[in-house]
Amino acid sequence: MKEQNNFLISKFVQKHSGIVLGSSKSYLIETRLTPIAEQFGFKDVDELAYGLGSAASDLKNAVIDAMTTNESFFFRDNVPFEAFEKIMLPELIATARKTNNKIRIWCAAASTGQEPYSLAMILLANKRLWSGINIEIIGTDLSDLSLERAKIGKYTQFEVQRGLPVQMLVEHFKQQGTAWFISDEIKNMVKFSKSNLLEPFGLLGKMDIVFCRNVLIYFDTETKTKVVKSVYDILRLDGYLVLGGAETLLGISDLMERAEGYRGLYRSAGAKNNLTALRA
Ligand SMILES: C[S@@+](CC[C@H](N)C(=O)[O-])C[C@H]1O[C@@H](n2cnc3c(N)ncnc32)[C@H](O)[C@@H]1O
Repeated sequence: MKEQNNFLISKFVQKHSGIVLGSSKSYLIETRLTPIAEQFGFKDVDELAYGLGSAASDLKNAVIDAMTTNESFFFRDNVPFEAFEKIMLPELIATARKTNNKIRIWCAAASTGQEPYSLAMILLANKRLWSGINIEIIGTDLSDLSLERAKIGKYTQFEVQRGLPVQMLVEHFKQQGTAWFISDEIKNMVKFSKSNLLEPFGLLGKMDIVFCRNVLIYFDTETKTKVVKSVYDILRLDGYLVLGGAETLLGISDLMERAEGYRGLYRSAGAKNNLTALRA
């Protein structure tokens, strides 16, 4: 019975989020869904599984949200942020000045906001370079709870100690008790909204850079291929796709080419690649 219910829940989660909960992860179902079962008045997770098919959308959202893994930290992996500042940004600024004076950046699995806020901090530090250009940063995620936290911009001591340079902490955060709040100046540079990577996201409009990091790892190959194709469609021809350090498009898509020397950085196949300049 338990196995059958775990199977039902796994199927449900995969259908609505793409997240594959292999049998090795079935312990997560019990630990993460027990509080949800209690919150919605079910006796236990088995009873919840049974009612899931006909459940109201707030229960469905809560189940999916609980099964997402939202770990993130400021300047995670460093390299993409260094490449953003030193290569992508100057190049896109030069293009924007010749075209529409706009740069659009999308963090497609923004979680609790550390990734888009890291980009905003870099942008603010380089403000003079892009004067007159409208730069948008859009952070989306499937998880309502993560988005709520991202919008508030409130972090724990542990979170601000992970990857955030101390001068940025001093410059952009205010401490209140044990919490750290990001400044309004940084917060106002990022727009957050809910978006499921399994659903059409073309309405977001064309993007110059898409950070889609540490989310494809949870999907099966077919879903990864579909999502990468949709991201490719939303990217400008010479735009960048940034994946997580451990992620690759090998065997998933040949629409994009890896930027030499940078794990996780991709451009449309055939687009000019000048990233070799930054190779160690
Ligand atoms: C591990 S976090 C990655 C956060 C950030 N990109 C980073 O690398 O630090 C993965 C995020 O992907 C989100 N996610 C999972 N499935 C999703 C989907 N189908 N659509 C949009 N976001 C999804 C989760 O809610 C979670 O916040």
